[in-house]
This record gives sequence, C-alpha cells and structure tokens, in this order.
Amino acid sequence: MKDQLIIFDTTLRDGEQSPGASMTRDEKVRIAKQLERMRVDIIEAGFPVASPGDFEAVKAVAEVIRESTVCALARAVEKDIDRAAEAIKPARRARIHTFIATSPIHMQHKLRMTPEQVLERAVAMVKRARQYTDDVEFSAEDAVRSEVDFLCRIFEAAITAGARTINVPDTVGYSIPHAWGERIRTLIERVPNADRAIWSTHCHNDLGLAVANSLSAVLNGARQVECTVNGLGERAGNASLEEIVMTVRTRQDVFPCDTRIDATQIVPASRLVSGITGFPVQPNKAIVGANAFAHESGIHQDGVIKKRETYEIMRAEDVGWTANRMVLGKHSGRNAFRQRLKELGIEFRTEAEINSAFERFKELADKKHEIFDEDLQALVTEEGIEQ
Ligand code: KIV
Ligand code: ZN
Repeated sequence: MKDQLIIFDTTLRDGEQSPGASMTRDEKVRIAKQLERMRVDIIEAGFPVASPGDFEAVKAVAEVIRESTVCALARAVEKDIDRAAEAIKPARRARIHTFIATSPIHMQHKLRMTPEQVLERAVAMVKRARQYTDDVEFSAEDAVRSEVDFLCRIFEAAITAGARTINVPDTVGYSIPHAWGERIRTLIERVPNADRAIWSTHCHNDLGLAVANSLSAVLNGARQVECTVNGLGERAGNASLEEIVMTVRTRQDVFPCDTRIDATQIVPASRLVSGITGFPVQPNKAIVGANAFAHESGIHQDGVIKKRETYEIMRAEDVGWTANRMVLGKHSGRNAFRQRLKELGIEFRTEAEINSAFERFKELADKKHEIFDEDLQALVTEEGIEQ
C-alpha cells in the first residue's frame, strides 16, 4: 500500500491574497463545494481575523462542507486563534493553521522579536489552538531563509505542544528543487519527535519552481502539499494543484505516494476559479490550458490518430476535458484534415478531390491561425464536393 499524499488547498486563502482575486462569501462557498467534489483533503477557507467578511466566508464554508477538513489561518496571536476557532466551529472536521516567521530578516525587521520570544510564542499559540481542536498545523514562515538549527528547535517544540502537521514554507519562492528536498529530509531526520507529525510543504512560484520544489519535498518525506487551483496566489502564485496531482499520478513509478483526488474534477475546478476571479488561464498552461491536449502539427496529429500515447502522456478525459482537440492549421497533415471532414459527414470520392481540397485548405491556413469547421464547410462547398 502506498502512502497518502494529503492535498491541502489554499485557493480560498493564499490564492485570494493574489491582488485582484478577492472573493465574496458565496463565491468561496461555490469553490469550496467544487474542491470537496474533487476530494481535496483540507480546504483552507480564509483568514478570519482579516475582515468580518472573511470571517463570515470561512464560517459559511464550515457550515456546508462535510467531507473535507475546513481550515482557518491565524497568526501566532491570541485574537487570531480565537477568531479562527469561532469561524470553523460549525465544521465537521476543523483545523487551525497558525504561523510565525522564523528567518532572521523577518524576526528582526518585521516582528521585532528575538528567536527565543518567537519560539515561546509559537508554543503558547499551538497550545491555545489545541484547546479548540486536535487538528493544529504550525508553519514557520520564510522557512527557506531560516537557520536549520532554529527550525529544528521550533518544530520540535511545536510538535510537543500539540501540532500534528508541520508546514515548511518557501514563502518567497527562493529555493531550488534539490536544496528544498534536502531541507525537508534534514528536518525530518533531525527533529527528534518528527514521526509524531505530518510534514508539509508550501511553495511560492517567484522563480517558476513552486511545483518542482514541492515534488522534491514529497520525494524527501513530505506527505502534505499546500497548493492552489491554477497556481493562483501571492505575486507569481503558489504551487499548482493540478500539476502536483497529475505529476504524482502519472509518475507512480517514481512517487511513493498518491492523492485521493478525483482528477476528472480538475478542469471544472479550474474553470470555476478562473471565472470567479477573472484570472484567465494561459492557453499553454499544463493540464488545464486550452492547448494542453490540442495538436496542430501534422506529424503529431497523425501519431495521435493512429495511437494516442504517441504524443499524450495523460488522457484529456481523465482530468475533465471532454476529449483531446485536433487543431487544424498550417502545420496539420492530410490525415487530420480527412478525419475532421469525415466527422463532419464529408466523404471524398476520388484522390484528386482530396488533393485539390487539401491544397485549398493549406492556402487558407497560411492566412488564418486556426481553421474552424465553418471554414471547412465553405471550402468543400466551393470545391463542389457532395455532402
Ligand atoms: O507563504 C507562506 O509562508 C504562507 C504561510 C502563512 C504558510 O502562506
Ligand atoms: Zn503562502
């Protein structure tokens, strides 16, 4: 039996922190329901102390979600923890996620606290959160720029205080895959009570490495990944849920774990988040981009028509697309051209007819990016081909 890789979705919290992506309570509830349908393990619904609206949104999510754990974020501050606890009270399964920065730059300039004060505060707030729920997660913000010895001390103390998940964030997207994996492995090896917690990774995408870093963490012992739909999130975003889930699933030869995610719900989730936030998905985005399963070049189209696996490592249907898409354009070959016409109910009587129509198609394709079905209909009508 493989280990479970826990998917902690933070679209509604870190994703919402993306400038211009704020969501109403009802929008959060709609997205949370889709995340539950996708079998996300933990839904981080928001940061209740941030505003009365976010408190209400987290509460509303906690009221309707039954299968996933509902999580609320709190700084390591008493009022944050109490507010988070209040918001998630209606949840069937509730988690409080509390965090404090541990890097010298954050402790000195932002918190203006000594490392000893930070450690003491972390322990006190984990204990406070445990009075409300058994499911407490502790994060060391900016772990990437924190000293390993200090991280070991604070994580050991947080676990002793009752944290059941230890999250290691690359808050500023600074790490690179081999270093991030090594950091996770070192922490798990050096923290004496490491086996009493689930180790988690939370990566930002400032250098475009959030997914690669997260996967490296998984290969080195992390069993929870924090991610967002479409990679939505602060600045360049968070690790993308769909890329994490599909990499682990497609490369089961490499990964010692798998998620519970129903991948057929990935594309509907992507569309919903994009529609609600107004953040479009780039066409060449892996898994959920409009071109992720589209083929235009003749060689690729011919290969896919003969055997799909020649150019596809996943099935479009498995992630929620209705089918792969043959795009007719100037790189397309005769085989794909003939196949599309056949699908439109158009059959050629002679080779000469195909040759002439294909020549006209190529002339047209030089003038247009994509040839649509209406273009083909017009072309065969002009050629006098019977339908
Ligand atoms: O990026 C970060 O460090 C965070 C924490 C609150 C986990 O979002
Ligand atoms: Zn973050």
